[in-house]
Amino acid sequence: MIKAEQIRLPTQQSAVENSPNHTIPLSVPSLGGNTRRYIEECIATNFVSSVGPFVERFEREFSAYVGSKFAVACSSGTAAIHVALRLLDLQPDDEVFLATLTFAGSVNPILYERGRPVLVDSERETWNQSSPLIIAELERRARLGIKQPRAVEAVHLLGHPCELETLSAACDRFGVTLIEDAAEALGARYIRGKYAGRHVGTIGKIGCFSFNGNKIVTTGGGGIVTTDDEALARRAKHLTTQARLPGAEYFHDEVGYNYRLTNLCAALGVAQMELLPQFLERKRAIAKRYDRAFANLPGVTVPPRADWAESTHWYYTISLAPEFSLDRKQLWKRLDQERIQSRPIWTPLHLMPIYAKYPRLGGEVAESLYAGALSLPCSSDLSATDQDRVIAAITAALAATAG
Ligand SMILES: Cc1ncc(COP(=O)(O)O)c(C=O)c1O
Repeated sequence: MIKAEQIRLPTQQSAVENSPNHTIPLSVPSLGGNTRRYIEECIATNFVSSVGPFVERFEREFSAYVGSKFAVACSSGTAAIHVALRLLDLQPDDEVFLATLTFAGSVNPILYERGRPVLVDSERETWNQSSPLIIAELERRARLGIKQPRAVEAVHLLGHPCELETLSAACDRFGVTLIEDAAEALGARYIRGKYAGRHVGTIGKIGCFSFNGNKIVTTGGGGIVTTDDEALARRAKHLTTQARLPGAEYFHDEVGYNYRLTNLCAALGVAQMELLPQFLERKRAIAKRYDRAFANLPGVTVPPRADWAESTHWYYTISLAPEFSLDRKQLWKRLDQERIQSRPIWTPLHLMPIYAKYPRLGGEVAESLYAGALSLPCSSDLSATDQDRVIAAITAALAATAG
């Protein structure tokens, strides 16, 4: 049994600490701009709950930003994925292919619907699920007349876009619906190829984003579903509002959910979206600075950057070579001693007993990435001084073990 005091919640720590030896958080929100004004507006107008002008404004401004026709706000990213699967009418035992290297919020909604996840190994180029593995399996099934999965849920890990050009073409060819879990990748885009200029979350039939406290834009907690299909958008809104029919009567025509985002949360979201370009610029500058500092450190690999993609570096994550004398756990511990928060990436789903029974595609790439990966402080407000402290601590730790 885990005791409450053993659970550390880095995302809940305050960003503002000024002592030279303060704890540097992994990733905390930056609440500037119009945040206070918009929240005060909610209070002044009494619109603090699930009805109010900020919800619609947030949806409108979000869809305009990513370039989808519609966006429906939800209470979390997990709820957004659940709604996406309900929109597909996922049936018990329908299969959904998704990355094994992802957060549990990607897979749990499949299980809410008694679907069957198929856990796909990662590729080294982007750390995302391997398109060639998925495509080979779709082709094999077509050859042998085996039922195809209902959907592929492509997860954009740590802010780096997935390869979708060949994957979406294969999905189209075999009648499989592509949905995107873009929870970690708001602002990430394709810069070459068929989807050049397009944002993640707008290529598949449905995209899902999260606004949890550690995300690049936060609403405290929240999510959103994006789509170009008006009928799907309407049904998504219906499902998130208990499937209640319009009118004064409480009349519901299917089983829905209370997945609404409150006006208060949406007000925070509107203020955050105004700051997003600034957050992205900062995230990318932080990543560049880390890249430069670590470029010549033996045993350290900097995060992936495919030349066709523009990552947000939501979580800046290095990878330590397995043969290196200092492993990820030791570096994590050392940074902790220096009051620097860091964190391993998601435990691959297939390594956890509750998910291990589901079928898998591919080999051990996700496990090896997991074994070596450590995410470093990268809040958009991270100061140069704090970043220097992180760089110095890592350089010293690696030098000590090398020597
Ligand atoms: C890849 C991924 N999918 C889904 C989720 C679920 O989002 P939420 O925490 O808002 O429910 C998250 C993260 O939090 C995530 O990182």
